Order: sequence, then C-alpha cells, then structure tokens
Amino acid sequence: MKVCVFGASGYVGASVYKRLKDKEALEVSGTYLDEPPLFDDLIKLDINEPESFSDYYKSENPDVVVWSVMDGPNEHELTDNGLINLITFLTPATKLIYISSDFVFSAGKGPYKEADPLSTLPDDHVYSTYANAKVKAERLINHELSNYVILRAGPIFGENKIGKLDERTDKLSYHLRSGKAIAFRDDLIRTFVNVEDLAGTIVQMVENDQVGTYHTGSGETKSYYEFMSATAEQLGFNPNMVEKASEYEEADHEIPKNTALNTGKIAKIMK
Ligand SMILES: NC(=O)c1ccc[n+]([C@@H]2O[C@H](COP(=O)([O-])OP(=O)(O)OC[C@H]3O[C@@H](n4cnc5c(N)ncnc54)[C@H](OP(=O)(O)O)[C@@H]3O)[C@@H](O)[C@H]2O)c1
Repeated sequence: MKVCVFGASGYVGASVYKRLKDKEALEVSGTYLDEPPLFDDLIKLDINEPESFSDYYKSENPDVVVWSVMDGPNEHELTDNGLINLITFLTPATKLIYISSDFVFSAGKGPYKEADPLSTLPDDHVYSTYANAKVKAERLINHELSNYVILRAGPIFGENKIGKLDERTDKLSYHLRSGKAIAFRDDLIRTFVNVEDLAGTIVQMVENDQVGTYHTGSGETKSYYEFMSATAEQLGFNPNMVEKASEYEEADHEIPKNTALNTGKIAKIMK
C-alpha cells in the first residue's frame, strides 16, 4: 500500500511519517515546503501549486493520503488551492485522512458531537481565516468524496516522535525554567490531544477501512489554565507559577469559549 503524508516536516506530520516508515508493508512518501526538511527523503512540494502538485501526485499515485498541512494566515489558500488540487486527483479508491480542528465549532458552546452543525466566524474576526478555511475544507470533502476520514482535534500537545514539543508547552517550560510566572485563560475549554496518540490514531486509520468524521483525544476536557497547571506539575515545576490570565477581549478578538469535543465515537473503534 502506498501512503503520502503532506506536511511530513511539521509537528504532527513528522510523527505520522516516522511511524508509517517503520511499517515494512507500506511504501511511504512525504512532502515538505520550507528548507531544511526534517527527513532526507522528503520531497519538496507547494501543495497550492497545481503543476508541481500534479507531477508529484501522478508519480506517487497513493492509496492513502494524510493531510497534515497548516498555514495559519494563508489557510484559505490551502483549502481553495491545495485541497482542490488534491480532490481533482483523488479517485474513490484513494482514502483521504484530513486533520481538522475544534475551531469548526467556533460558536464555542461545546461539548460537541461529530454530527453537530459547524459554524463560521465573521470575516473581520482575527481567527476567521483558520476557522472558516477548516469549515470550508470539511464541507468540500463531505460533498466531493466518500472515501475519507476527517479527524477533528483540539489543541495538540506533547513531545512528538522526533522530540519536538508543542509551542505552548515549550513556552511554559521556558518561562518556568527562568523563574517567571505565566498566565493562561480559565474560560477557554478544550479537549487536549497528545501528539503521539493522534499519530497512532492516524496510522490505524491508514491501515483500517473506517471512514467518516471523528473527534480525537482521550476525552479529557479542561481549561487552558487547568491543563497548563497540570502540565507544569508533570514537568516538575511549581503549578502555582501558572496563573489565571485576564478574560478581557475585544469583540473581533473573542476566542471561542468551549470547543470541547465528545470523543465517544472514536473510542469505540480504536484499538
Ligand atoms: N497544532 C495544533 O494544536 C492543531 C490543533 C488542531 C488541528 N491541527 C491540524 O493538524 C495538522 C498539522 O498541524 P501541525 O501542528 O503539525 O502544523 P505545523 O507544525 O505547522 O505543520 C504544518 C506543515 O504544513 C506544511 N505546509 C504549509 N504550507 C504548505 C504548502 N503550501 N504546501 C505544502 N506544505 C505546506 C509546512 O511545511 P514546512 O514545515 O516544510 O514548511 C508544515 O510543516 C493541520 O491540519 C492543523 O490544522 C493542529
């Protein structure tokens, strides 16, 4: 079976790529964009660029594609160009595994189940680019494809397979090592997901016949403040160094409050 990982140099993609590479039965290729690539055998590809995308895709002709690509301020381009390039080439025989986000529920009134309606943010909202591009991507996939898995994730944390930490934990540990307190909001409720658990889920989805939309994570729902205090303690720091951040925000900077994900559906099918 041939598998392509788009975004194999990224935080999640690197773990997925490495785990898949360890499986002898699979023929795995991966892409990167910015130099230097994390692994020597990755292929440079701008997924938004139709001609190079076509050349890459035709040469690989995969059975499974993993989408682990993200480009915050240009996320719309990834959906409008990159994802559409991909959908043009996908046949029903090829399975797409697309990593989506809890921000498709930007109304922030969770916890959410898979079938709950998605919501977008006003165009002038500071988070609209990412959230709305993910909503659009999910709708496109749902409309155009049948052989797909959408995995929605809340904040992804922990050390990945090549020893890289997520930015929040990195920042937390930098602050606490320097003896400085750090503050996180207690009114933002999320379902946090460990990067290695997510990578393991993706590998299982590559190998099994499951399709559809799933919420990922252990089901543990916490505020950022609660989660980061617990993380500080696990890292051997005094959790009291983690403080509650101000909840004041401008109208167009309002962060979705509760985007927690009910993960009961995936728990029933995962090993
Ligand atoms: N991190 C989170 O907390 C979180 C939460 C929910 C969902 N997600 C989703 O999880 C997936 C992986 O996120 P991540 O945290 O691993 O992000 P990441 O570390 O930023 O990795 C994303 C990768 O996308 C690649 N990329 C960006 N623009 C590209 C383009 N035009 N063509 C080809 N590749 C491009 C980058 O490649 P180079 O590095 O080679 O430039 C980068 O490595 C994304 O779909 C994201 O939306 C993440």
